[in-house]
Order: sequence, then structure tokens, then C-alpha cells
Amino acid sequence: MSRQKIVAANWKMNGNRELVEQMYHGLNQESFNAEQQVIICPPAPYLASLQANISNNQVAIGAQNISENEKGAYTGEISALMLKDLQVQYVILGHSERRAMFHDSTELVAEKVAYALASGLTPILCIGETLEEREEGQTESRLSYELAPVIAKVGIESFKNVVVAYEPVWAIGTGKTASAEIAQQTHKFIRSYLASFDADVAQQVPLLYGGSVNAKNCEELFAQADIDGGLIGGASLNVEEFKKICLAV
Ligand code: PGA
Repeated sequence: MSRQKIVAANWKMNGNRELVEQMYHGLNQESFNAEQQVIICPPAPYLASLQANISNNQVAIGAQNISENEKGAYTGEISALMLKDLQVQYVILGHSERRAMFHDSTELVAEKVAYALASGLTPILCIGETLEEREEGQTESRLSYELAPVIAKVGIESFKNVVVAYEPVWAIGTGKTASAEIAQQTHKFIRSYLASFDADVAQQVPLLYGGSVNAKNCEELFAQADIDGGLIGGASLNVEEFKKICLAV
């Protein structure tokens, strides 16, 4: 069965108005494969101007986080409703940087996923093991530990509207990509874990690989059976390189 191919850019806390302009000029001119989706997730201050200037209907906008609350006295937070108001369609949730530095526990991530879905946003749910966990043979238990509370909270049926990004923590921003073989093995495990809840849903969930993906290594990764695209950090800050990655999926 053919699943949607997705390449998503995670700018993290990088970029400026100049990059926003370069990105929409570059992407508006490009014609992507009709089946594919390109997603740009800039820092929140740039969501509106990017959204207003993207005219390529295969490019959507995503945020990098949301509050688990709807509105009110939560200084500094961003609500899913505000993102919907800006016509944002996706939100990255559970990124390992947020889990490690901003106390996004597995339960909180599950709440945010539930809230994003209820608000009509598509979550890009990130999961991944540390180097220590991989070396100790704990990769699969880590991934199921991160997935289980989300499945318990929203139900496996809801995963028809979830994108999962496998991002080994040891490969993020380090220049060390998982080999295509390791990435495929792990994606296969993730799909089989989802299939243990519902085989049909598992076949439909796009699984993205993230962690030091660039224009050179993306083709081999994207050629794997269970890799449906990528979540791109550093290499998404260069428009030409990012376009190459989008065209390789
Ligand atoms: P990287 O980041 O491509 O810079 O490794 C990926 C991510 O953290 O989403």
C-alpha cells in the first residue's frame, strides 16, 4: 500500500526573516511529486509570514510545540487553536530536545497529541533512543515506552492522523546518521509495534527518519521499505539542500 511521502523541516530555534523569504521563494517555484507533502516548521514568530507567502499547495506549515491547554493564563505558551487560526496544519510533538530540556514527559506528550488531534492539527510524534539505550539493547523498549502512553490516550484509530518520526537521539545534530539498514530495521519494528494494535492503521502511518539527514545520505534512507520520508534539522536551513532532499523522497 502506498503511504504519503513527507519531508518536514524542523528549523528549531534558528532562522530569521531572510530565511523565511528564501524558503518561500525557493519552494513556490518547485514542483514536487503530486503524492508528496513538504512541511516547514519554523519558530513560532515566523509561522504567519511563511503561511501567508507559501503559494505551493504541496507545502504546509507546522509548529514545533503546543501547550496542552486551550487558552488562558499560561504566559509564553502557544495554543493549538491559535495555530488553527493561522491555518497551520502540523505540529512536532515529543522531540527529544523537548523531552530532555523542557520536561515533556511521555504522559505530557500524550496529552499534547490528544489536544492537537482534537484541534484538527496533525501531530508529528517524535520518538527515539539514546546511544546508551541502543548499546544496551534497549532501543525497542524505549520506542514502545514512548509510543504506549500516546496509543493509550488517543487510541490506535487516531494514528490514521498521526505522523511518527523516528529520531535516534545519538544521530540528531551530530553528523552521525543511522545507517539505512539500522534505520529500516527500527522503522520495521515501529510499524510492527503499531500493527500489534491494528495492522491496517500501522500500514497507513507515515514513518519519517530524522537525525543528520542531508542531500547526500537521504536517497539511501528514503529507498527503505518502511521509511516514508524525513524530519530534517540542520540541512533544512539551506534552501537548496532542503529542496534536494524534498525531491529525493
Ligand atoms: P538534524 O535534526 O537533522 O540537525 O540532526 C533533526 C531533528 O532534530 O529533527
